[in-house]
Amino acid sequence: MHPKIHRPTESAIAHAADALLHGHLVGLPTETVYGLAARGDDALAVEQIFVAKGRPRHNPLILHVADADAARRLFADHLSSIQRSRLSGLKTFWPGPLTLIVPKHPSILDAVTAGGDTVAVRVPDHPVALSVLREMSRQNGSPVPVAAPSANVSNYVSPTTASHVAEGLGDQVAMILDGGSCRVGLESTIVFLGTEDSPPRILRSGRLGQAELAARLGEPLTGQQHPQPASALKESHHRPVAAPGQFAKHYSPRAEVFLLPIDSSADPPPGTLHIGFDPIALSDAGSDARSNVWTFAPDGRLETAAANLYLMLRRADQQNYRRIEVVACPEQGIGIAIMDRLRRAASGD
Ligand code: TXA
Ligand code: MG
Repeated sequence: MHPKIHRPTESAIAHAADALLHGHLVGLPTETVYGLAARGDDALAVEQIFVAKGRPRHNPLILHVADADAARRLFADHLSSIQRSRLSGLKTFWPGPLTLIVPKHPSILDAVTAGGDTVAVRVPDHPVALSVLREMSRQNGSPVPVAAPSANVSNYVSPTTASHVAEGLGDQVAMILDGGSCRVGLESTIVFLGTEDSPPRILRSGRLGQAELAARLGEPLTGQQHPQPASALKESHHRPVAAPGQFAKHYSPRAEVFLLPIDSSADPPPGTLHIGFDPIALSDAGSDARSNVWTFAPDGRLETAAANLYLMLRRADQQNYRRIEVVACPEQGIGIAIMDRLRRAASGD
């Protein structure tokens, strides 16, 4: 095991909280993907995130807090009544895989928001992440927001195990807490709260879908727009936007990814890896080292496929595949978020 990976014992959690409070980077498990954590109210600590990941500074960060009360301190003092009512509906998903984009409190660092006037906030639903956030608050005497992007080198596949974090960023972090494999496996759903004149809007799809969100909101919300290719964003991307700073090329393995139509049969040319969604009997979570036909979902469930998606793309790279053909899945439920990530992985930009 990598020397920086620690079991999340009480003492390891206290140590991680202390390291974060002192401005160091820590690899932290959440229910979605692992985060590269730094204290979010310390400009030098936040700067280290951008350096470690090679992340463009115009791409803003999500602040993580332990509960909705701590979240409220990060929002502008005067939200409109419609924003307050949308917030009260949506925060019932916390702790959970939902990030809210809200007008920011003046105390929030420009480095976090990329100079914009909104802040992204979420309460992660993972016992280790919550323990660290609470321990920081205890040691500090008041809550401290934790900035945490996915703990991968910029544009590579997000990490869903502690080893994934160590592989990409082991040298850059003080420690990594091992919370096991991430339950969801895809990044949080991001929702922009909207304004008096505009409805709430999904900026990034995730485990929580449009119907679930709308039901809790009591009003419709706009779905995710198709991602813009990086080329279209270059000119206009100096400021953060209502749509997140997401380039089409994202979540990509080194291997070239091709999308095949739904239900395509498995007949890959030699040297090409084929990954589908069929419940075929394969050992080792569906990726048999001897075969070039894998499945994301040995049990046929899209939730399982989501949890396996990044692991399998990383494993394909480890096995030095140059080409991966991936079969499309139905765009229902979490299948919408899976297809969003696969399209980005396959985009040639
Ligand atoms: O599940 C997750 O959200 C994970 C875990 C670690 O919490 N975090 C994550 O962070 O995926 P990251 O940095 O890899 O993706 C955050 C996305 C980026 O696309 C960023 O552009 C967008 O959130 N974002 C952050 N602040 C924003 C803002 N104020 N307005 C619009 N988009 C924002
Ligand atoms: Mg990311």
